[in-house]
Amino acid sequence: MDKFVVKGGRRLTGEVTISGAKNAAVAILPAVILSDEPCIIENVPTISDVNICIRILKEMGAKVENIGKDVYRIDPTTIDKFCVPYETARKMRASYYFLGALLGKFKKARVSMPGGCPLGDRPIDQHLKAFTSLGAKYNLSQGMIDLTADKLSGNQIFFDVVTVGATMNAMLAAVKAEGLTVIENAAKEPHIVDLANFLNSMGANIMGAGTDVIKVRGVEHLHGTTYSVIPDQIEAGTFMVAIAATKGDAIIKNVIPKHLESITKKLEKIGVNIEQYDDSIRVWVDGPLVKTNVKTAPHPGFPTDMQSQIATLLTLAQGTSIITENIWEQRFRYVDELRRMGADITVNGKVALIEGTGKLMGAPVKACDLRAGAALIIAGLAAQGVTEIEDIFHIERGYDCMEGKLRALGADIEKVSVPDKAVETKPAENKAAV
Ligand code: EPU
Repeated sequence: MDKFVVKGGRRLTGEVTISGAKNAAVAILPAVILSDEPCIIENVPTISDVNICIRILKEMGAKVENIGKDVYRIDPTTIDKFCVPYETARKMRASYYFLGALLGKFKKARVSMPGGCPLGDRPIDQHLKAFTSLGAKYNLSQGMIDLTADKLSGNQIFFDVVTVGATMNAMLAAVKAEGLTVIENAAKEPHIVDLANFLNSMGANIMGAGTDVIKVRGVEHLHGTTYSVIPDQIEAGTFMVAIAATKGDAIIKNVIPKHLESITKKLEKIGVNIEQYDDSIRVWVDGPLVKTNVKTAPHPGFPTDMQSQIATLLTLAQGTSIITENIWEQRFRYVDELRRMGADITVNGKVALIEGTGKLMGAPVKACDLRAGAALIIAGLAAQGVTEIEDIFHIERGYDCMEGKLRALGADIEKVSVPDKAVETKPAENKAAV
């Protein structure tokens, strides 16, 4: 069992480079299945969710080679298995993208229902709605989802809720379907656009990604391509908050400033200075941090995946802030841990009231999910004394060498191995999925 040991109180300064986006990469890697030729994918982050995607592809028979730093060559033409078993699917929520990709290519898929779910209820009814609209039949039994179709035909799909996963899956399944598919009430996140751009670079015909109506005209073949994954919006936002929480001054490189707009606007309200350049930003604090209110919403709203990090910053600000979480019902589970560090936060349903105390104190804490873990690192960086963070496998699922990047900015953070006899000592990716 590894843990992070953070000695707080150091200002973050210098430069940090953001890696490829987790939530784009975990969809683009399965999407390679749809190609009739090998593809080269660049700017793939080194995180355990990506390792799992690659293992699944290999288990299916694809040839995957790591041909450079963050670059993979994937040949899907040798795939001869269409199943993602429970043992692999439970390790990563995004294993559901193999449903859309396998269905789109082979008209059949067998994927385990994703397991362990620390964010609350995570239904897949909208995914199934998309697949059945295109002509697939599904069967849920023994924890497995089986999809089959004689043929996939374009159709109109109207989502009841705005959902990233189902929007991506609808595109994956529709891209080779016969005729026109119109996806309405689609999600608009940057990773939706990235998946559409990737598919189009293979010869797909997708229009409107990034708006709430996406039109997919089916094509017969998709060819090989070389494609670079977009920078991770949430990793960038997490570093923005970390720099602000330590009253630092640093440049964040390899970002798309437009993707950071909602985060930038909120941080500016709190008193953080942000200067935008073409593909980098400077973040610094030279005055007091002040309260604000945050409501999470689908893109272009404030991302739920930044909620715990900004809440941590608000514990350091003057005044009372209110956070409303509108996407995941269990995304305040980190609050108990922050309280151990001296935060004054009251949660009532989907609303958290934060009394800014201006300071945090180091304590032993546990990451309960990926973004909660990131929030605790930020808290540790800003706190007086030492913070020890356990269960960092959650953090390593989605952040590419976070401790190394923070150290380069001047943070005092170490990854320490702790022998633990009582608890299973399996590698990170064997834990339940975020
Ligand atoms: N929903 C349904 N039915 C469905 C699908 C979703 O009711 O069939 C509901 C969910 O319960 C939720 C809302 O729709 O209330 C939005 O869920 P969405 O489908 O958008 O979430 P997701 O695709 O499962 C992705 C990210 C999450 C991120 C959410 C929201 C990936 C792999 N995961 O999840 O990322 O929080 O979108 O932006 O892309 C993270 O990176 O930490 C993370 C949890």
